[in-house]
Amino acid sequence: MIQALRGMKDLLSPNSQRYIYFVENCSRIAKNYGYEYIETPILEETALFKRSVGESSDIVGKEMYQFIDKGNNDVCMRPEGTAGVVRAFIQQKFDRAGVKKKFFYHGPMFRYERPQKGRLREFHQFGVESFNQANIKEDATIILMLKEMLDFFGIGYKLELNSLGCSECMPKYKEKLVNFLQDEDDICDDCKRRRDTNPIRVLDCKVKSCQEIYQDAPLLLDNLCSTCRDDFTQLKSILDKFDVKYTINPKLVRGLDYYNKTAFEFVSDEIGAQSAIAGGGRYDKLVEYLDGKPTSGIGFAMGIERLIDLIVMSETAREGYYIGALCDEASDLCFELAINMRKTKKVNLEYNKKSLKAHLKNADKQNARYCVCVGEDELAKDLVWVKDLQNKEEKSITANELLG
Ligand code: HAM
Repeated sequence: MIQALRGMKDLLSPNSQRYIYFVENCSRIAKNYGYEYIETPILEETALFKRSVGESSDIVGKEMYQFIDKGNNDVCMRPEGTAGVVRAFIQQKFDRAGVKKKFFYHGPMFRYERPQKGRLREFHQFGVESFNQANIKEDATIILMLKEMLDFFGIGYKLELNSLGCSECMPKYKEKLVNFLQDEDDICDDCKRRRDTNPIRVLDCKVKSCQEIYQDAPLLLDNLCSTCRDDFTQLKSILDKFDVKYTINPKLVRGLDYYNKTAFEFVSDEIGAQSAIAGGGRYDKLVEYLDGKPTSGIGFAMGIERLIDLIVMSETAREGYYIGALCDEASDLCFELAINMRKTKKVNLEYNKKSLKAHLKNADKQNARYCVCVGEDELAKDLVWVKDLQNKEEKSITANELLG
């Protein structure tokens, strides 16, 4: 029997209903904040992710679904959404026009990771990206919007916050950190590689002995330039004002290389080891890295699979009609009724004749509001039998009344 690939899942009810509920409500909230829907291709040139997410990242280094297509192009299934949106922004020449743009998106992402609970090879993100808003108030707004989304679904979280500095202070800090790492021969091989490629990535190494060494490492937050420091202070005070709780994590660097200044992660302690439910931050150099005109950017993405179990959804009310024939002679009438009623109503039709009891049971299982049955008695009187499964009322009415 052919099965879905490892780390890839079918989405069926009730999770598919939760998925739609999640995406619809996040979209509604994003629109209130001025975001518009964007859809970019799942397949992109591999170079796009190498240049944005970064060669030193695990995503590009180990996890890409990369192949050569029939036209000899080096392509890759997107491991995340930001790079494609930035490419589209530049391709549409929005960078040259200097316009402010806000996009939201949702869809599948692919990372060849070792699957475990909450970690899939195909997973879905809901994300947003905002361009040309260099103001720190935009950073606060994006965090407030994400909080509003999680609050709407009744999802508890902790927010971790850091500032990675800008092109003025980050290089100086990196130099300090490399000096610190120079004499540390006991760090793991991954960290030795990171020391040469993107040294700040050592800070979130999961190896315990490395973490012990980094306890004495210089911290980004102590090395920010005055602009970054003032912005970070302002960001914290806006979050305080709006009662957003956060903890400062000076070692939060995120797993993608394009970030600068604000970096944040929302984590949950209700979903096991893979606790990050959303992550994001600023990427003011990314448009330039991808050959666009300098344009600031900021965004975040949520992992929908990690959130779906946490969504508190009210029980769905009974809805629509179930129609079934009680004898063979009534089945054509039931078929016609269903086709006509579907122009305005939700209708589930049972093609096979069944007993009244069996139809009522089916209607109940399908969460229908009304069960409509037609048998010999009804045919003789030109009527149909209807039961309201909510208030249990039964009546016989004409087909026209039902259609009305
Ligand atoms: P990310 O932190 O790599 O950021 O992913 C965002 C979220 O996607 C994570 O917090 C997690 O919930 C979910 N996620 C990641 N990998 C997996 C996986 N293998 N299985 C299930 N869920 C997963 C980004 O992707 C950035 N593009 C976010 C961003 C947007 N930054 C700025 N704009």
